[in-house]
Amino acid sequence: MTAPYNPGLLEALQMRYARGAARMLIGGEWVEAQSGETFETINPSTGELIANVASAGEADVDRAVAAARAAFEGPWAKVKPDERTRLLLKLADLIEANADELALLETLDVGRPIQFSRMIDVQGAIGQLRYNAGWASKIMGETAEISAPGEWLSYVLREPVGVCAQIVPWNFPLVMAVGKLAPALAAGCTVVLKPAEQTPLSTLKLGELVLEAGIPEGVVNIVTGYGRTAGAALAAHPDVNKIAFTGSTVTGRAIIDAAKTNFKRVQLELGGKSPTYIFADADLSKAIPAAAMGIFFNAGQVCAAGSRLFVHESVADQVLEGVSTMARGLKVGQTLEADTMIGPLVSATQLDRVTGYIASGREEGAQVFVGGGTIGDKGYFVQPTVLLDTKPDMRVRKEEIFGPVLCAMRFSDAEDLDALAGRGNETEFGLSASIYTQNISTAHKLARRLKAGTIRINGSGGVDPSLPLGGYKASGWGRENGKAGIEAYTELKSVSVAL
Ligand code: NAI
Ligand code: MG
Repeated sequence: MTAPYNPGLLEALQMRYARGAARMLIGGEWVEAQSGETFETINPSTGELIANVASAGEADVDRAVAAARAAFEGPWAKVKPDERTRLLLKLADLIEANADELALLETLDVGRPIQFSRMIDVQGAIGQLRYNAGWASKIMGETAEISAPGEWLSYVLREPVGVCAQIVPWNFPLVMAVGKLAPALAAGCTVVLKPAEQTPLSTLKLGELVLEAGIPEGVVNIVTGYGRTAGAALAAHPDVNKIAFTGSTVTGRAIIDAAKTNFKRVQLELGGKSPTYIFADADLSKAIPAAAMGIFFNAGQVCAAGSRLFVHESVADQVLEGVSTMARGLKVGQTLEADTMIGPLVSATQLDRVTGYIASGREEGAQVFVGGGTIGDKGYFVQPTVLLDTKPDMRVRKEEIFGPVLCAMRFSDAEDLDALAGRGNETEFGLSASIYTQNISTAHKLARRLKAGTIRINGSGGVDPSLPLGGYKASGWGRENGKAGIEAYTELKSVSVAL
């Protein structure tokens, strides 16, 4: 078997970060924060420092927005669609050529097992670029026949929205950064990207590749720093036209408030409390591993994690036994080992949150069926956990835990699809849902009744750049990906000519 990573590369990265704090990318240059401040990013598998990184403040955000504005009004506006396509495809090729380093950075900084960093982050980023590259030349306006007297030519232009702030969380930094960047650039926008303070490193490497691809300076700026400083300054900035954010509902609300200053466009992808349904006729050989990985993958730090399981009573014992066997058997451990399936939580803060939720479940009367504890005294590992006997008003049932914690419930034939959908919908969120049944009518009827932006039937597949992604209710505003995702980076302008 070949090594899951290149030890020479790891050493080179360590030497590089030992030489000094990582800088951010503003107007094509690698700069320190004007204040000189830095912050630490750590490896959640060990709790050890990886690198110091420039900590942006308001002055740095101002510079980055000014650079993005200058590029938007200047050179980038003159770049033709086919050239934008070429640049995005070039960036995709460079990510492919640098897959080893990007996967390693993601594994070190996020705590994602190396096999998944390659499969999900690197491949996902490439897919986003190749999908969106094609859109650059396919953004179409419309013409309209208007009813006013006389003869008119009326048409609707689709223009780039302008300077976009893009704030990314720490669970999938590279693929989310690229998933925001790609449609923005395809549509002709310029961006200021802010990775999460826990996980800035792969985004900075992305910045190097952006320059290497020949994307003009100022089109992509990267500011690293805390949410309450750099993030808040971006959200409130009067010269930012749009803000795209993925993260918590709490911060989503803060962004809406800050965006009011200049009515910037707001796109939000927030949390979830997504249901998985397993019916009596489901193919359990697929449904059981999907239900388990739906919540344990990435230690549950997934916005669309299947955190509530509804299983028909006739197969409930078998399903719970199967999910619990996986919970005990999945290798939780060091992320650079090839066969590790589950890594740590991203930070000590998240470990506290998740263990706090498990404790609150216990206090409120839930039964810990499997797991429930932490692992080791180094790093932020928590056991894959299944809770039974939860009630709808318990915090573990209502709130997003963002850890490997599943609430499992039974249902019976006494509940029709309306009732079952009602249980799935009994949350403020509406991001996604999964359904396992061999009955196509059951599957499609339930899919219609669920208030969720993404429904998966008999398969757990990932996010695809061609499918709109986003949520109903408190799971967000708008959709990323697909045609809707590119249109979200445009403004409409109606032009009427009296002929
Ligand atoms: P967060 O939403 O505060 O952080 C996400 C991003 O927002 C980071 O880049 C952060 O620097 C930035 N940010 C924070 N405060 C900001 C502000 N006032 N203005 C602008 N940007 C700001 O999430 P956090 O605190 O790291 O995690 C807390 C919980 O949020 C998690 O336990 C989970 O439930 C949820 N979450 C959901 C994610 C998703 O994929 N939907 C991703 C990350 C967290
Ligand atoms: Mg980190």
